[in-house]
Amino acid sequence: MKASFVLLPGDGIGPEVTKAAHDVLVAVARKFDHEFEFESRPVGGIAIDEFGDPLPQSTLDACVNADALILGAVGGPKWDDPNAKTRPEAGLLGLRKELGLFANLRPITAHRQLIDASPLRKDLIEGVDILFFRELTGGIYFGESSLSDDGRVATSVMQYSVGEIERIVRMAAEAARNRRNKLTMVDKANVLEVSRLWRRVSARVMEEEYADVDYEVVLVDAMAMHLISRPRDFDVVVTANLFGDILTDEGSMLPGSLGMLPSASLGDKPPGLYEPIHGSAPDIAGEDLANPLATILAAAMALRHSLGLETEAAAVEAAVESVLDSGMRTKDIAASGKFFGTQAMGDAVAAAVGA
Ligand code: IPM
Ligand code: MG
Repeated sequence: MKASFVLLPGDGIGPEVTKAAHDVLVAVARKFDHEFEFESRPVGGIAIDEFGDPLPQSTLDACVNADALILGAVGGPKWDDPNAKTRPEAGLLGLRKELGLFANLRPITAHRQLIDASPLRKDLIEGVDILFFRELTGGIYFGESSLSDDGRVATSVMQYSVGEIERIVRMAAEAARNRRNKLTMVDKANVLEVSRLWRRVSARVMEEEYADVDYEVVLVDAMAMHLISRPRDFDVVVTANLFGDILTDEGSMLPGSLGMLPSASLGDKPPGLYEPIHGSAPDIAGEDLANPLATILAAAMALRHSLGLETEAAAVEAAVESVLDSGMRTKDIAASGKFFGTQAMGDAVAAAVGA
């Protein structure tokens, strides 16, 4: 198969972890006889520095024509001035919106080798396997916003349409059917009108089209508790943009390290965008200390969801497991003082794929 990837390394540790994912994809192409093409484009802070724009048109044009996008991370203190004209994050939000990537899939699985790295008790997190569907192109992130002339009152509107709710609920329900057949919809319907629309629309979709899927609704504040007290009870979770942002950061602590979790952002058509959940970690940038496994696992999701290469995706995931089984750890997940660097970890996974 021929496939084209655009690499969006971004800022901080982004370039290091993206390189590791690239190297693993090269190993996949070699092993399974595919032809993968790669080009690299600036996004985020580095693009502000180069073009004065966190999402230059040339980057967007390259992305539109690719099969899959692998993003590192954006942002850093250099671009944090609250009065700045634009921010690196605007590049990421722009990509999501421009490419119509309305569904953000964030799997939260506890790797058994790393269970001791979790801040939670082992008996709570063993067997945790949750797939979050976070709505990604609507809600309060993209609603109207304003600041009054005197700078003393600000507004950000949370708005959803029936169509926006239906499409993400359907995608999540489909995924539930292929997993443990349970869907949890999270909202704040006891207070917010927009949540009451989510509740009505998802109840109808589930009743009319997915009556076979076990469906429940949970308020977002309660969900924040249940995620810690009984995380094994959840299979697929669907929720709005802001709630999903917060709950997935909370959920990312279940397996212990943010450095292990990939995410996929999908729309109605290619390309999909694949990235680690973690940020740009400017404090360790360029020091070969970052954990590349989240980005490598994101590349596996790209193989699965954008290219339909299930065997290859599973091979990458198995390679990650075998490297963890061998005891190799990056600093963030090392129990002892001994650890390997980003590059060595990436090389080990690429070698395991090729083996
Ligand atoms: C995420 C991040 C982004 C978000 C930021 C960087 C804009 O936190 O992908 O979860 O809020 O969506
Ligand atoms: Mg976030």
